[in-house]
Amino acid sequence: MTALFSPLSLRETTIPNRVMVSPMCQYSCDSRDGVATDWHHTHLTSRAVGGAGLVMTEATAVEGRGRISPEDLGIWNDAQATALERTTEFIRDQGSVPGIQLAHAGRKASTSRPWDGHDPLGIDEGGWEVVGPSGEPWPYEDAEAPPTQRLTQDGIEGVIDSFRDAAERALDAGFEVAEVHAAHGYLLHEFLSPVTNHREDDYGGDFEGRTRLTREVTAAVREVWPDDKPVFVRISATDWLPDRDSWTVADSVRLTDQLAEVGADLIDVSGGGISPESWPEDTGPNYQLPYAERIRREASNPSGEADIAVGAVGGITTPEQADAIVANGRADMAIVGREHLRDPYFAMHAAEQLDATDEIAGPPQYRRGFGF
Ligand code: FNR
Repeated sequence: MTALFSPLSLRETTIPNRVMVSPMCQYSCDSRDGVATDWHHTHLTSRAVGGAGLVMTEATAVEGRGRISPEDLGIWNDAQATALERTTEFIRDQGSVPGIQLAHAGRKASTSRPWDGHDPLGIDEGGWEVVGPSGEPWPYEDAEAPPTQRLTQDGIEGVIDSFRDAAERALDAGFEVAEVHAAHGYLLHEFLSPVTNHREDDYGGDFEGRTRLTREVTAAVREVWPDDKPVFVRISATDWLPDRDSWTVADSVRLTDQLAEVGADLIDVSGGGISPESWPEDTGPNYQLPYAERIRREASNPSGEADIAVGAVGGITTPEQADAIVANGRADMAIVGREHLRDPYFAMHAAEQLDATDEIAGPPQYRRGFGF
């Protein structure tokens, strides 16, 4: 069997192949209410029709103030969860697994969407007060940041509760995988990184303090997520700021062990986003794969029961590349972002090219188009 089309079982959940649709914001909630629209339904279900084994939603805000833009998807109320039910059902009908990325944008919240400028939105422009570990705003170049508050201990507990409640709603809405978003300079990453976390209480300071919020959020999600279903965590493996005290791949290996201990099943290994300078030199093919590979090699579940799975993302665009990542044991899942915007049928095309059409179900309606 082709490695890319071999199923991956995590707990009692079987993902039919190793292609995951990377979470990608669509900025498409018409009424700024966080409620999914026909756009989200069509976008997510077409990638399931296209054969991806796991379809992950965009960053879905656990609180209104945790949205990157006012048009982001949310899951902080029941109406938002109900609107996603038809989508999860359709994804499951295609034999694919629906996942939801639970997110809080922290100090990077309250901006206009990319095609409206991606500018910070002040309160009088429909924006809101944002929160972070230390009260320092994101350093916008030519614009004033929205008011930025340092989270209090009570505020931190509120955030943990929001993630837990959001996970419960997501489960009711039919999702089978919950992914905690702890990457890209958003709230949890802001606590992880010494670049942005200048607290001196239990949630700052040393490694244990800075990782506490991510561990507690993951544990809270695990608490309500059923034992037979997996929890993922997306991290930025590195801040890409080697000349400063910053988050490193070695930190990520250590965090992975801790997350395995609180019940995470897969680490989705991304990078960067903590500051405007936090960008890789190279964004070519497989640009983040070495981090996933190292984490997979070096992290071990301290319980000794099972190694934690690892997903690679970044610059994966061809079937051969995705297959080789899994076949060579470099990662357990090939997480494909922009290529899925270009080609919703990436997995079906991959099956065709890898001569593996008998290893993917694919919708019978489309089989003739793919030479199955
Ligand atoms: C993204 N990315 C992203 N990441 C994430 O964790 N949550 C999100 O909601 C989004 N939103 C988003 C929107 C759009 C339009 C793009 C292009 C990207 C990052 C994405 O998931 C992925 O990690 C990167 O795009 C790198 O992978 P590719 O595109 O090289 O396969």
